[in-house]
Amino acid sequence: MPERYAKITGWGKYVPERVLTNADLEKMVETSDEWITTRTGIKERHLRAENEQCSDLSVKSAEKALASAGLKATDLDLIIVASTSPDYLVPGVATIVQDKLGAKCGSFQITAGCSGWVYALVVGTQFIQSGAFNNVLVVGTDVVSYGTDYEDRTTCVLFGDASASVVLQPSEQPAGVMTFELGSDGSGVEALYVPGGGSVMPFGAYKDKIFNERLMFLKMDGQTVFKFATRTIASSMKRVVDKAGLLPEDIQLFIPHQANLRIIEAAARMMRQPLEKFMVNIQKYGNTSAASVPLAMVEAIEEGRCKPGDKMVMCAFGAGLTWASAVVQFGVGEFTPAHTLFSLGRARFLAKRTVGRAQDLVQQFLLAMQFRRAESRKKK
Ligand code: ACO
Repeated sequence: MPERYAKITGWGKYVPERVLTNADLEKMVETSDEWITTRTGIKERHLRAENEQCSDLSVKSAEKALASAGLKATDLDLIIVASTSPDYLVPGVATIVQDKLGAKCGSFQITAGCSGWVYALVVGTQFIQSGAFNNVLVVGTDVVSYGTDYEDRTTCVLFGDASASVVLQPSEQPAGVMTFELGSDGSGVEALYVPGGGSVMPFGAYKDKIFNERLMFLKMDGQTVFKFATRTIASSMKRVVDKAGLLPEDIQLFIPHQANLRIIEAAARMMRQPLEKFMVNIQKYGNTSAASVPLAMVEAIEEGRCKPGDKMVMCAFGAGLTWASAVVQFGVGEFTPAHTLFSLGRARFLAKRTVGRAQDLVQQFLLAMQFRRAESRKKK
């Protein structure tokens, strides 16, 4: 266990005003509210205004996070912005956020699809735990709508725009990221990507192909991503919970990436945990990519579903393909000593594991006895 933890001391969210409902989409492509609701759980999503950029959404959620942590932008030592839809292809969006906030620190962007914010949270945590920095801002923002093809019903019903941020600060008491897993499988690039505009297919040389085949938009093989997600999400969450010496029962709230309600339901089944322990807000926002997990976390805090000392499991997956999970202890304020809680959790885990192993041994012994009795009856 580290001596210095990275506590979440501030949080904030921003969603653009404009709402796109399933009924609106019915007028744009051949789809129905019934199809979207039953296949995804999404009812509506928020889209940016034309003049609202990734950096603008970021600044709005970041300012709220800073205010709730009681910090000024100039107090920040580092800004990390997770995004796949920056203002420009070059540079990353983080420096624009730094400038608009009026901060005087280093900043960089992390691009890891919808897993980006969980990656960024883990990275930010390292800077605090190492003692390098005291005030780190971790933002997750995506305006996926700008790269979404509103003529393609297989993708345009899924995505929405949003931003959410947290401030990390040092704590001697266990708080913040306790265990984590970062994963990637680049063999799945083409399951979810924008084919045109990169070095493989530059705009200059492939302009006609890109425009004729609409390759400047996000392309997705939904079923491949669906299978990857259901395979990954529960197993990754189980691994980080186990690494923390806990059982799924010890977790107060699961905060999965909001990509599809059916994926979340499958994860709950695989974790053998009630769906009520899973934060779900996909119906209001759709898949907001890098903003998805922090947005769900901020809403969980606002709804009182996440209390000081609670342990949450976050898990995201997305383009890359990537995934990232973390056990995060919510440690705001001077409440029940979190360290004791964490130790109690471990003690309970060890006790349950010992009882489980003893039960297995007894069962094996009884089976062996039964087998011996049957054998000796046969001999007689
Ligand atoms: N409305 C009506 N019909 C539709 C729509 C729509 N919006 N979209 C697809 N269909 C049709 C298909 O054309 C297909 O018709 P067909 O049988 O005549 O060919 C039928 O519905 C079934 O299509 P499937 O793709 O099999 O539908 P599925 O049940 O797999 O659901 C979905 C599709 C919702 C996209 C699902 O596969 C999914 O959620 N995948 C995961 C996506 C995901 O998580 N992406 C985000 C990753 S995160 C990131 O980094 C951005």
